[in-house]
Amino acid sequence: MGRAWGLLVGLLGVVWLLRLGHGEERRPETAAQRCFCQVSGYLDDCTCDVETIDKFNNYRLFPRLQKLLESDYFRYYKVNLKKPCPFWNDINQCGRRDCAVKPCHSDEVPDGIKSASYKYSEEANRIEECEQAERLGAVDESLSEETQKAVLQWTKHDDSSDSFCEVDDIQSPDAEYVDLLLNPERYTGYKGPDAWRIWSVIYEENCFKPQTIQRPLASGQGKSKENTFYSWLEGLCVEKRAFYRLISGLHASINVHLSARYLLQDTWLEKKWGHNVTEFQQRFDGVLTEGEGPRRLKNLYFLYLIELRALSKVLPFFERPDFQLFTGNKVQDAENKALLLEILHEIKSFPLHFDENSFFAGDKNEAHKLKEDFRLHFRNISRIMDCVGCFKCRLWGKLQTQGLGTALKILFSEKLIANMPESGPSYEFQLTRQEIVSLFNAFGRISTSVRELENFRHLLQNVH
Ligand SMILES: *[C@@H]1O[C@H](CO)[C@@H](O)[C@H](O)[C@H]1NC(C)=O
Ligand SMILES: *[C@@H]1O[C@H](CO)[C@@H](O)[C@H](O)[C@H]1NC(C)=O
Repeated sequence: MGRAWGLLVGLLGVVWLLRLGHGEERRPETAAQRCFCQVSGYLDDCTCDVETIDKFNNYRLFPRLQKLLESDYFRYYKVNLKKPCPFWNDINQCGRRDCAVKPCHSDEVPDGIKSASYKYSEEANRIEECEQAERLGAVDESLSEETQKAVLQWTKHDDSSDSFCEVDDIQSPDAEYVDLLLNPERYTGYKGPDAWRIWSVIYEENCFKPQTIQRPLASGQGKSKENTFYSWLEGLCVEKRAFYRLISGLHASINVHLSARYLLQDTWLEKKWGHNVTEFQQRFDGVLTEGEGPRRLKNLYFLYLIELRALSKVLPFFERPDFQLFTGNKVQDAENKALLLEILHEIKSFPLHFDENSFFAGDKNEAHKLKEDFRLHFRNISRIMDCVGCFKCRLWGKLQTQGLGTALKILFSEKLIANMPESGPSYEFQLTRQEIVSLFNAFGRISTSVRELENFRHLLQNVH
């Protein structure tokens, strides 16, 4: 019963958020309106309007989130950038300097992070020690029944049945820590056929695509084709439509960053990154993109709300007394946990109201099948990230897909029961350090995008 309820609540969130997706199109006049026509005022029949989201994000969440992400726990992410692309031969390695990722020297990363601490808690570490002991054949007779049960659960967790991502084996010698603060996501010059290929594979092969209709990937496609695509999209069940919108939102978010950290000046004296309004318009202007751009921005808000919802649902996990953001620095770790909880409580307080009528009505088997479909498609997308030619883009692509995958794992988890504080935290639900780091950094990127939209809104006011 509890599980069914959990799934229901998760799906309900998705269904409700989808209702944001049906808007009237106006023919706006100014440059700013041409980009933002779909993201102003009320998001259709949802109780939140864009201005409320903007204010909440830009002034309440964004500054605190930035502070958290600068901490040692969140800045180091272990990633294997040398995995071969599973889908085609990627001989094409990007030679651009701006694409390079500088891995950390091993003495840069705090010992607490490098040790087994990517399992979230003392309990988990103890379990891991037990598992290691088992693997070595040293059967520890003294394991209490409780611990044995926990070991079993932990193994279940690790068999990845819950996972929406093909994650890197972080024990591999090719996996290295990178300092995310030293390798910011910004314009690298990685575009053209290679980048195009990645996104078209993601859209064309993985988004529950119809057999005959091509997705309009960018401008330059005919109007009628586009309309066919959108009427096809409308005909999908809400979950599949949600999947498409998440990918589109992620794509939009990445493009907002690239437009906001555009390489404006590149001389031997200095490099300067900053806002490029023209680039932004080319990606989001309603006229230049034949209506696609404003929809992409709306999908960005959709993605934002989905991840926000996941974060509010996962609060009980982080509230467990034994949960630590373990780096080995006790004082700092405690401060970070306090900040993390403050952020999550703030998120929980955001008035997300459900529309009771849009309850997912399908039966349990159908829901499970949908979840499985969703998961397989998403895992595929995470594998495609190994085909991104530019290492810096690959790093941020992997991190953001793992983050979104973690958000989906939370939303679809039957083990983590939302809104039922009386049932207490469920110890069956687990997150690894990598998942935690990617979840918050991915949300940090989208939060930054929403913040940047405000900047572009101002900048576009001077453009006609
Ligand atoms: C801004 O981006 C456009 C392409 O969208 C490019 O042609 C232009 O040179 C860029 N501006 C600067 C100052 O780099
Ligand atoms: C995964 O991707 C491959 C290659 O693009 C494709 O052949 C396969 O059908 C995809 N599977 C799913 C479930 O999307």
